[in-house]
Amino acid sequence: MPTSAAEPGRGSILIETGQIIGSTAFAGAQCVLRIDAPRIAGRCEAGQFVHLRCAPDLLMRRPMSIMRADGEQGWIEILFKVHGVGTRLLAERRTGEKISLLGPIGQPFKQRSYKPRTLLIGGGVGMPPIVFLAEHLRAQPSETFVILGSEVPFPFAEKPSGILVRGIPSEVHATMPLLEDWSIACRLASGQGYAGCFDGTATELAEHWIRYHGEEHASDMEVFACGPTPMLKAVAELAARFGLPCQISLEEYMACGVGACAGCAVPIHCEGSIAMKRVCVDGPVFEAGDVVFS
Ligand code: FES
Repeated sequence: MPTSAAEPGRGSILIETGQIIGSTAFAGAQCVLRIDAPRIAGRCEAGQFVHLRCAPDLLMRRPMSIMRADGEQGWIEILFKVHGVGTRLLAERRTGEKISLLGPIGQPFKQRSYKPRTLLIGGGVGMPPIVFLAEHLRAQPSETFVILGSEVPFPFAEKPSGILVRGIPSEVHATMPLLEDWSIACRLASGQGYAGCFDGTATELAEHWIRYHGEEHASDMEVFACGPTPMLKAVAELAARFGLPCQISLEEYMACGVGACAGCAVPIHCEGSIAMKRVCVDGPVFEAGDVVFS
């Protein structure tokens, strides 16, 4: 996560032929692919995505958020849900197959100043950038709390957490094993009645945590979120109500994925007026207070 004003642009986007080195299917037609792509893995940051060709004969690329990246070993991971022809073909790809990638693309989450408490919220297919950011924040002394929400089975086998989270009811104990292994506090939210999960939305659980830590400590906190638009709108309103700095990563239909077609443009408050900004290269991460929700 950069701390400078450096802005990656189209000139920093690479085209790379990667190789699938792992594929894991989960309930709810979800899949995690690990792809050997050392050039992209060596320079991507949390919040960025790759634009990939799901199958060799499918020309239209699909944007996929990066969930993890190991620059030393040279791989990235993506998580996706099958919801059309492209993602179905992608889920059928096998270890050893080649795959064409463009990336890394987009503005990552930016940590402008150190905050003692960081709240990360990921909903549905918005979980990957949040996991990426959580892994990055492991190296920092700040208290990081991750909330993941889903209305379909989680793309991992949730388990009870051994990490106490003050302000969260004890019966809400389910976590993502990977985050637990990293000693990062996490809780899950769902309206589907999954064991150990908060019965409600990720934003409602976030409000519990923020209220516990007190409005007087708002200047100690920062919020980062990615997920469906209704969730992001609720998170932006929550952050505004408590005066918390908040960045959100938008989801939008993309065609070119590299800033050339303006098909992903959304209205953003900019220098006293409203400007159309491209989610793919001007975002996907924006200041929550700048986003114009319809
Ligand atoms: Fe073409 Fe964003 S998808 S400009």
